[in-house]
Order: sequence, then C-alpha cells, then structure tokens
Amino acid sequence: MAESMKGLRRTCRCAELTTENVGQTVTVMGWVQKSRNKGGIIFVDLRDRSGIIQLIFEESDTGVEGFEKATKLRAEFVVAVTGVVENRSGAVNENLKTGAIEVRAKDIRILSESETPPFPIEENSKTKDELRLRYRFLDLRRPDLQRNLIMRSKVATLTRQFLAEEGFLEIETPMLTKSTPEGARDYLVPSRIHPGKFYALPQSPQLFKQMLMCSGYDRYMQIARCFRDEDLRADRQPEFTQIDMELSFVDVDDVLDVNERLLQKMFALIDVDVPLPIPRMTWQEAMDRFGSDKPDIRFGMELTNVTDVVKDCEFVVFKNAIENGGTVRGINAKGQGGMARKKIDKLVDFAKDYGAKGLAYIAIHEDGTVKSSFAKFMTDDETAALIKAMAGENGDLLLFAADKNKVVWDVLGALRLELARQMELLDKNEYKFLWITEFPLLEWSDEQNRFTAMHHPFTMPMEEDLQYIDSDPGRVRAKAYDIVLNGNEIGGGSVRIFDQDIQSKMFEVLGFTEEQAQEQFGFLLTAFKYGVPPHAGLAYGLDRLVMLMAKQDSIRDVIAFPKVKDASDLMTEAPGHVDAKQLEELGIAVIAKEEKKAEDKE
Ligand code: AMO
Ligand code: AMP
Repeated sequence: MAESMKGLRRTCRCAELTTENVGQTVTVMGWVQKSRNKGGIIFVDLRDRSGIIQLIFEESDTGVEGFEKATKLRAEFVVAVTGVVENRSGAVNENLKTGAIEVRAKDIRILSESETPPFPIEENSKTKDELRLRYRFLDLRRPDLQRNLIMRSKVATLTRQFLAEEGFLEIETPMLTKSTPEGARDYLVPSRIHPGKFYALPQSPQLFKQMLMCSGYDRYMQIARCFRDEDLRADRQPEFTQIDMELSFVDVDDVLDVNERLLQKMFALIDVDVPLPIPRMTWQEAMDRFGSDKPDIRFGMELTNVTDVVKDCEFVVFKNAIENGGTVRGINAKGQGGMARKKIDKLVDFAKDYGAKGLAYIAIHEDGTVKSSFAKFMTDDETAALIKAMAGENGDLLLFAADKNKVVWDVLGALRLELARQMELLDKNEYKFLWITEFPLLEWSDEQNRFTAMHHPFTMPMEEDLQYIDSDPGRVRAKAYDIVLNGNEIGGGSVRIFDQDIQSKMFEVLGFTEEQAQEQFGFLLTAFKYGVPPHAGLAYGLDRLVMLMAKQDSIRDVIAFPKVKDASDLMTEAPGHVDAKQLEELGIAVIAKEEKKAEDKE
C-alpha cells in the first residue's frame, strides 16, 4: 500500500543541495535510481529532474520500521525522505553535482512502488529507440532528455520575453482552418456538422498572421504548432513547432536585425557568443560555392566550376553535360588522395543516390603519382590544367560531377557534407550562422509542368526583377531569406506582397485561375482592398533550433512525444481505428487498402 504525503512538504529538489546545507534537516522526494544494501547500512541514489542525491539509511536513525522500508526499495520506487545533510562519509563522487554530501535519513515514506522497468533509466541509453518510445514516459525520466526539454522551455520563455520587449503581441491563430499553401500535404479533419467537408490543420499560421497585419496589430508572435503530412527525417516531424512572427512597416533589414538580436540572446543560454551582424550570402553564391541553399560553413571544401577548363577536352561525359547546358564542377578533399578504391567506389554510389550518373575522380598520392578515372580520355596537359584549377596538391582527392546545374549542386553539396563527416570536420561545439538571401521567387516543377513558389505565393519579388515576371519568370529573385545554422535551415521568411496587382500577377504566373485564387485565398485578396501595411515575417523551426543547441542529431530528442518514421506514435499507438458509429456520424466510409488497390487497377 502506498503511503500518502500526509502534509509532508518537500523542502528542495535533490541536486539543489550543496555543502552549504550541511547540518540542515531537509525533505526530498523523487525516484530511486539505485539502492545498495551493505548489511546494516543502505545507500540509495534518489533522482528528480534536478539530479541525484545520495541517501544513507541506518536502523539507529530510522528505527526498525523505517529501515525495513528502506530494504524494500527498488529502482523507480517513489519516496519521500526526511533527513539531515552531512558531508559524505565515504569518498567524494567527482562525477556528481552533490558528490560531496549525502542525506542521513530519519524518516521515509514509500509513495509509490514500481515494477522492474523494461530498461534502465540512465544517460546515453543503449536501449533500442523503439522500446524507448513505446515507454516514452520512462524514457523522458532520463537526464539527457530532461536537459533537452528544460532547454526547450528556456528558449520558449526567453523568446516570449524578448519579443514582448520588442513590441510583439502573442496572438493565437486557429488549428481548424483551411489549407495553407506551404507545399506539403495537409492533415484533414472531417466536419460532423458539414458532412463531406473538411478542415485542414495549419501547415503554418501564414495567412492569419498576414491578416493580423491587415488588422493593425503591427507586430505578432506565436509559438505555433504546425502540421505537414510529408516524409519524416531526422529534422522533420509531421507536427512541429514554429516560433512565428510578422512585422508591419518594415523591410528585410528590420526583420533580420530583430532576429539577430534574438538569436544572440538565445545562444547566450548555452554560453555561445553569436557575433553580429550574422553574415549574409545570396542564394546564387551559396549554390555556386557550396552546392546547397543551407551551407554548412564550419569547413571549406568549396565547389569549383571547371566547365571552362574542360570545355574542349574529348571526355564525352563532360562534353555531353556541357553541350546540354550543364556544367562540370569539382571538390577537393584535402588529404584524401590515398583513399582506398573501395571507399571511393562507395562515394560514387553515394553520388548516384543523389542523382549523379557517375562521379569522376583524380587521386593524387603523397608521392605525386596520379590516378584518374578518366585520364585515358584526356591529354596529360588537360589533366594537369584541371588539377591546377582545383588547387590539387599531393595527397588530395578531386571529385567531379558533370550534369545539369541542379544535379551537380545536389551531388557535390551532399558529397561535401559526407566527406566532412568522414574526415571529422564537423564540431558540434562550433556554431556558424548564415543568412541566405535573394532566393529565386519561383522554381520549375517538371512534375506539375509549371512554376511553383519557392517559398510561398505571398513572397514579394525584388523590385529590380519585376520586369522579368512575364518574359523570364525563373530569373526573378524574391525578398526571401533563410537563417541557416551549421547546414540546417532553422528558419525562413520573406517580405510579403501587399499590392493587389502584384499578388494577382503572382497567382497568374503560378497557374491559378482567377476563380481558384478566389476560392483558396479570397479572404486575403479581399483584405488587400481595405488598406494593407507593408509587412514581412519569419518563422523558426523551434525543434531544429533546440536540437542544435542541445547538440542532438534528431529533433525527436527535443520533442516530448515525437512520432516515428511512419508518422505513428508508438506510445499511444496513434493513428488508430475509430468505431463505425463515429464514422457514420461524419458521413465517412473507409475503403480498405486492398480494395482500393484493386479499384485503382481497373
Ligand atoms: P517554412 O516552411 O520555411 O516557412 O517553415 C519555417 C521553419 O520551420 C521548420 N520546419 C520544420 N521543422 C520540423 N519538421 C518539419 N516538418 C518542418 N517543416 C518546416 C524549418 C523551417 O525553416 N510561413 C512560413 C514562414 C514565413 O514566411 O514567415 C513558413 O512556414 O526550420
Ligand atoms: P565511364 O567511361 O563510364 O567509365 O566513366 C568514366 C568516369 O566518369 C567514371 O569515373 C564515372 O564514374 C565518371 N562519370 C560518369 N558520368 C559522370 C557524370 N555525369 N559526372 C561525373 N562523372 C561521371
């Protein structure tokens, strides 16, 4: 039978005790980490979210009954213990914050017993993810996860405080809404009152925050949950959290300025100094130099465009790519010239996974001998010129991709990161921020055979490029910006269109008919008729931000109850079936997968 607290009050958390408390009587409450019975004396490590304190039980202090209870303690029992803080009788434990002290128990109450947990509650758990997530409530007791979630809470609190001081108002926007065009699939919620109609969960508060600017709220912020039905990755969850903001009467610099100061404050939480201003790089420069719109600038290994150097050689791979409007670019992996053939072959496979048809290489050994996968198609002079263009030295490995620009960038951008991982160039303690600006407004979609918005359809084109919007839409740059940290896109935003004519033009370029635009965004277009302030905004992925601050590899580790790769929650077993009555009320019939497949075939 569990005992009650019966008016007993906790005086402090376990690891809040220090040598300054020696001699004081305290009451601590928490979970038993472990208990060691040494005959007449029992040592118990007691844990709460602050950490661990060692308790010491002897019958002379606790009486027979108390000592009897102490002998029963097992891992994860919940207890309340009153005792006196003392200097440790045994050796000081340097690994523990409270390693110099212990609490000599006088009284103990067992508040709750525990079955043997399916895995030990410990830092750096070796337990399989699946088991940990099924028992997430136990997993969340582990100190590393507790630290992560505490950090997350601190970031959220600081953000609210900072933005409030900067004049932002926190305003909530609806969860049950209409589709927002952020480009992913929507999660739909059926309506009981309107059978056959659906709400969409917001992919972001984008349209609402623009409405709020129309309504004169001037500066809005929200820590907002967003929903996107897309494939999961280490940095993507189907529901995630944005720090979302929008500002009126501003341009790019104003948004970047307030956010730089916010980032600086946030990273002070982990004692990281963010020198301001954060460097800016245009999208074009980022692609040319790093093959990525979210470059990791903690290391070099930049791309070199060697199209001009190889344009006259007879190597068909290069020749064809250039003739088809593509380019040839390379990276120089310093000191990797001696890489084993097998390992190079793996890099070639890696490149193919990113869409390359192949990966040409020149390995320059330490003794100066050169091994090239395409030397036979080149003259010695041509090979020498190529090595020179790549600043190749003894011991270097030069890797080349030839294709359309997009493929070359994707392949070399990814390869650069893979090599950095292999060469251990990535230091988690180093934080390199970068703004990427001047994104293309539109990108061509082969799949849809039309231009799509690179950011979203409300992004303002750069004034100087507006002239090309009909003749050469792909050339128009946008007033859009992303904030990148160590190769992660942690946030993005833009200056918005606030002019009806430009907005209509944008919808036209995107292939919306007047009716479609009206049907989807009618309220925005109407609002634009009644006085709109120029406005701009940005949203961070809070999960990604905290993941990097906490030096974790997955956003799962900074979300209390995350979903796994197939978007299910192993603890609650969501998504689940619902009973027939619920479906009937909603006017929904479920077509079994097998039947559906058969139907699709017909
Ligand atoms: P965007 O779509 O770029 O912009 O989203 C903003 C930031 O949210 C994070 N993010 C995600 N994090 C975890 N899981 C996901 N599935 C996921 N998708 C996005 C990223 C990203 O940078 N309304 C605009 C913002 C604006 O224009 O103001 C928007 O949503 O870190
Ligand atoms: P092959 O003549 O097919 O043996 O190709 C010679 C070398 O060129 C090999 O190392 C291939 O991996 C490489 N290669 C093939 N296609 C490409 C490409 N599109 N870009 C770069 N290298 C390629």
